[in-house]
Amino acid sequence: MPKTTTTKATRRADQYNDPTHNYLRYWDGREYEHAAEEVALKKLLRGKHFKHAVDIGGGYGRLCIFLEQYADKVTLAEPSQQQLDIAADFLKDHPEVDRRLIQAADMPFKDGSVNLFTMIRVMHHLPDPTAEFAEIYRSLSDDGYAIIEVANYAHARNRVKHLLRGERLPAKPVDIRSEAHKNEDEIPFVNHNPKTVTRQLEHAGLHVVHTLSVSNLRSTQLKKLLPKSVMVGFEKGLQRPLSAVYFGPSIFFLVRKQHVA
Ligand SMILES: C[S@@+](CC[C@H](N)C(=O)[O-])C[C@H]1O[C@@H](n2cnc3c(N)ncnc32)[C@H](O)[C@@H]1O
Repeated sequence: MPKTTTTKATRRADQYNDPTHNYLRYWDGREYEHAAEEVALKKLLRGKHFKHAVDIGGGYGRLCIFLEQYADKVTLAEPSQQQLDIAADFLKDHPEVDRRLIQAADMPFKDGSVNLFTMIRVMHHLPDPTAEFAEIYRSLSDDGYAIIEVANYAHARNRVKHLLRGERLPAKPVDIRSEAHKNEDEIPFVNHNPKTVTRQLEHAGLHVVHTLSVSNLRSTQLKKLLPKSVMVGFEKGLQRPLSAVYFGPSIFFLVRKQHVA
């Protein structure tokens, strides 16, 4: 895993600048997961349209073109210059997507000026998302929404594992890095308990209005056995019912400001 540059005062989230870490290639063979995430976003955004959408930690812009269907303006807010450079090429036919070097805990948007935030596959780098949630709350318009994706520790396989051991699921984030990578300079990599994240969101003034369980069929074996179209078909039907038990490895929360009815 790439290294971070750390200063005492602030830690810049520039881990994805490592030239040996090709995040674009990471998606090769993960077409099902990508499609599952688009299915979830479609479900959560159906019938909605926004003035300004911001994809926090959007990487090279994997989801920005998709988000354009739902917003007049899309900003890719990404703290890694390398990801923004890759985005320049990936989004070359979409120059209207604003690409900006931005870190989630310190965003340059005016209070209440953003109508939709998405933060997908970023929470696993945020063991304590307090500052990031506060920034989302501050910048979000009163009628706005945020979609926060959470790498889920409480997924079905872990539940069974804990049950068999007679152990409760941990409330705190679980460090999933290998021993070799557990030093303070390495990028954090955690899975969260979705109940804890719900409480953290509520504490920040963000109320969960919908939850989806995503990538429910993520399995190398299944991917070999079933065509993607079949997997995505099942996925469409499963995301809502399985959210009740936080079944899948990825949980999508649709949130809005608490005072909004
Ligand atoms: C696994 S990638 C996900 C990229 C994109 N959201 C996607 O789903 O394709 C994680 C991204 O989070 C970004 N990131 C890490 N820490 C961050 C932070 N504190 N604020 C904003 N983005 C961050 C990284 O630079 C990287 O682009």
